[in-house]
Amino acid sequence: MSRPEPSRESDKLPPEAGIAELREGAQHCRDCPIGEMATQAVFGEGPSRASLMLVGEQPGDREDLAGRPFVGPSGRLLDRALEELGWPRDGLYLTNAVKHFKFMPRGKRRIHKTPAQQEIAICLQWLDRELDVVKPAAMVALGATAAKAITGQAISVMRQRGEWVVREDGIPVLITLHPSALLRGPPDQREAAFALWLKDLRHASRYIKPSP
Ligand code: URA
Repeated sequence: MSRPEPSRESDKLPPEAGIAELREGAQHCRDCPIGEMATQAVFGEGPSRASLMLVGEQPGDREDLAGRPFVGPSGRLLDRALEELGWPRDGLYLTNAVKHFKFMPRGKRRIHKTPAQQEIAICLQWLDRELDVVKPAAMVALGATAAKAITGQAISVMRQRGEWVVREDGIPVLITLHPSALLRGPPDQREAAFALWLKDLRHASRYIKPSP
């Protein structure tokens, strides 16, 4: 008797698949419609045994073209924060809840569109596989989409920012804003908002290993 085809794209990969193999596998994922629109899947990057995993929502326009997470305007703000915190970017595992860029074409521009709950739920198969490999001691949820996706709970980011929420598997998740929320804020309040964001993020400093 022939075996049934695996119903999820990630199930086609062996349980011992590493990040490179998962990244390649995600390129073929059409389990939800977003994959068809995007240039490529943007998988997480960083050491495959990082103690801290930062999770955003989905790649943006720049990330979609570059194939790397957090390389556009939000990524630049994140880099500035990492520098001020003394967290080397290459010591962290950076990823997104959703691996493809969902957008609406408007003239020559591609405008970010929030992924639907079902699309997020389907895409979590890849984050689960990243977690199996990286086994972080803690995670940081950047924004509401990531917070809900990775904790499975309805989170109010503005009320719970700076707090830890423990996942069912025991991994603590620090809740904070997405960098794009800071970029959208009133320009005269941006530096104050940035300082508050750093204050939230600093709660996870204990998971950063000092450079040798
Ligand atoms: N926003 C995200 O959530 N992730 C990225 O990689 C870039 C922008």
